[in-house]
Amino acid sequence: MRAALCRAYGPPESVNVEQIDPPPLGPGEVRVRVGTAAVNFPDVLLVAGTYQIKVAPPFVPGSELAGEVVEAAADVDSLAIGQHVFGSALVGAFAEEAVVRATSLTVVPPGVEDRVAAAFGVAHRTAYNVLRSVARLQAGDELVVLGAGGGVGLAAVQLGAILGATVTAVASSPDKLDVARQLGASRAVDHRKVDLREALRDAIAEGADVVVDPVGGKLSEPALRSLRFGGRFVTVGYASGEIPRVPLNLVLLKGVQVLGFQFADFARYRPDELAGNEGELMALLASHKVFPHIGAAFSLEQVAGALSMVGAGRAVGKVVLDVGVDALS
Ligand SMILES: NC(=O)c1ccc[n+]([C@@H]2O[C@H](COP(=O)([O-])OP(=O)(O)OC[C@H]3O[C@@H](n4cnc5c(N)ncnc54)[C@H](OP(=O)(O)O)[C@@H]3O)[C@@H](O)[C@H]2O)c1
Repeated sequence: MRAALCRAYGPPESVNVEQIDPPPLGPGEVRVRVGTAAVNFPDVLLVAGTYQIKVAPPFVPGSELAGEVVEAAADVDSLAIGQHVFGSALVGAFAEEAVVRATSLTVVPPGVEDRVAAAFGVAHRTAYNVLRSVARLQAGDELVVLGAGGGVGLAAVQLGAILGATVTAVASSPDKLDVARQLGASRAVDHRKVDLREALRDAIAEGADVVVDPVGGKLSEPALRSLRFGGRFVTVGYASGEIPRVPLNLVLLKGVQVLGFQFADFARYRPDELAGNEGELMALLASHKVFPHIGAAFSLEQVAGALSMVGAGRAVGKVVLDVGVDALS
């Protein structure tokens, strides 16, 4: 099969497409003929060897996919051959075939394309669980979203608006902010053009109820300062490459809560809450009320370009690799 292979840690250009043997199928696993794979920031870090988890080269990167089940281990009874599924794994998705644990896959709702499902999973699941269960967002809340042109940020904009919040999108370019407005943001702040602290103070006179931060770095403190008394700040990721240090007296003076979200831990410690949110989110996906914004699509051979775009923060919404013919139909 054709697969993108990382033979040594390095920049995106160190990933090349080669012919390799399909991976073996183990207990509890299914083989998926990949239609579309989505590219995520951790894929770039895994290839660079700088992610919190290391995978020894050679390996096939790619952590999010949708496609058709073509083989299932004898002990798998939750999925059947021919079903279209989407889900995530640590690596393996940037290939014509991927072997994934059946429990990590969800059947694509009727009427939803593989391409949409592939781009939907990680970003929307992260954003929805953050908003519903960590931030406890309520209708009428003022929500500030950093990195609003990225996968998680844009999903948080869209879902926040659907949950009834007034959304202020913060991003680094007019094109990202245009898309954020299209997906429900009422206000847009270009942090490269204005002082973020002043802009948020002017925009939200009473202070924000919730900040969602997948970026970190120097944006986090001004965003934290924009909260009203009792507001909630959720740290989700550090796409800027910098883990911010925030003076704790701000937390004391403003009486705010600083909360963290990590998908794997949330799934482990709050499985019932996750299942409830998943049901709500799948209903929204099936109703076409929420959908990922696919800002760029590449072929499998163009994998290095796709990783570069995500790694440089140039992606608007999601970047996908159209691997199979099904993805293009
Ligand atoms: N905690 C969890 O469970 C969880 C789940 C999913 C993702 N994450 C993490 O959340 C973060 C965002 O994920 P994502 O999928 O939204 O990523 P993404 O689509 O690549 O978006 C990241 C955004 O961060 C901003 N950014 C600022 N400086 C950047 C830089 N130097 N390089 C790249 N981006 C930069 C960019 O927005 P502007 O240009 O507008 O500033 C960009 O749109 C990542 O760190 C990811 O690992 C965490």
